[in-house]
Amino acid sequence: MHAYWNGEILPLDAVRVSPLDRGFVFGDGVYEVIRLYGGRLFYADRHWARLARSLQALSIAPAPDPAALEDALRQLIAKDGVEDGIAYVQVTRGAAPRTHAFPAPPVAPSVLAYVQPIPRPASIDRGGRAVLYPDLRWQRVDIKSVNLLGNVLAKQHAVEAGADEAILHRGGLITEGSSSNVFIVKKGIAFTHPATHAILNGITRQLVLELMGELGLPVVERPFSIEALWEADEVFITSTINEVTPIVAVDGIPIAGGKIGPWTAAVRAAFSDLVERVRVGAGA
Ligand code: PDD
Repeated sequence: MHAYWNGEILPLDAVRVSPLDRGFVFGDGVYEVIRLYGGRLFYADRHWARLARSLQALSIAPAPDPAALEDALRQLIAKDGVEDGIAYVQVTRGAAPRTHAFPAPPVAPSVLAYVQPIPRPASIDRGGRAVLYPDLRWQRVDIKSVNLLGNVLAKQHAVEAGADEAILHRGGLITEGSSSNVFIVKKGIAFTHPATHAILNGITRQLVLELMGELGLPVVERPFSIEALWEADEVFITSTINEVTPIVAVDGIPIAGGKIGPWTAAVRAAFSDLVERVRVGAGA
């Protein structure tokens, strides 16, 4: 496996990160995970836009040039022969003597990227199981920062419960998954948390909102309660890795009889069409 590290392509295990890197010391950095299908980047432009937004929100500058990152990713995809997988891209504030405030004068950000193959999660087809978990995270999770302790603890709770994902709640309302966005469908209307500071505005979420428009499924971006989740006709999660994954049980209790609902199936099929278009080089 190879990596792009501050302008160079080198073996992943040859990357040397400073012990003073603020990503390592403070979690002072941001990242993106971009899907690869057939060795092609899936909607990379949207990821670059979100990366720029995250960097700006944290005043990390200069932002890496998306064209240079894409060029590096294409070299990595070719070198490591990855067809279906992910690209991981991380930018931290850089290495500087430890002090909470930003280094003055600023130092160069540290930029890391690598690609890796991943298998298609089985839960996309068979339906996933989720557990509820309190949303313990800070109040700017719209920034895709590498500070993921609340997400890590939630996912570990899910794994220990034999589930695929943890669905997070705050103040009785569902926010999102530990690494996904959450949708419900009730009486032919879809609901999902609005893109406030309380969720990450997933790229898959954005694509799914557009697909729902094309499918004629009305969608309301409004927080919904834990009770609404229990009473939903359909529940599904969206993410770069999990695409559109039906949720058939929460805390071991089946949702709507544990069957994959018709709208979930329709959205999933429409999303698969986008994937296939990119795979053959005809999409974004
Ligand atoms: N996570 N919400 C959270 C908290 C996430 O971590 C993610 C994705 C999403 C979905 O975003 P997108 O559709 O852009 O992947 C929502 C990535 C995949 C990760 O950390 O591995």
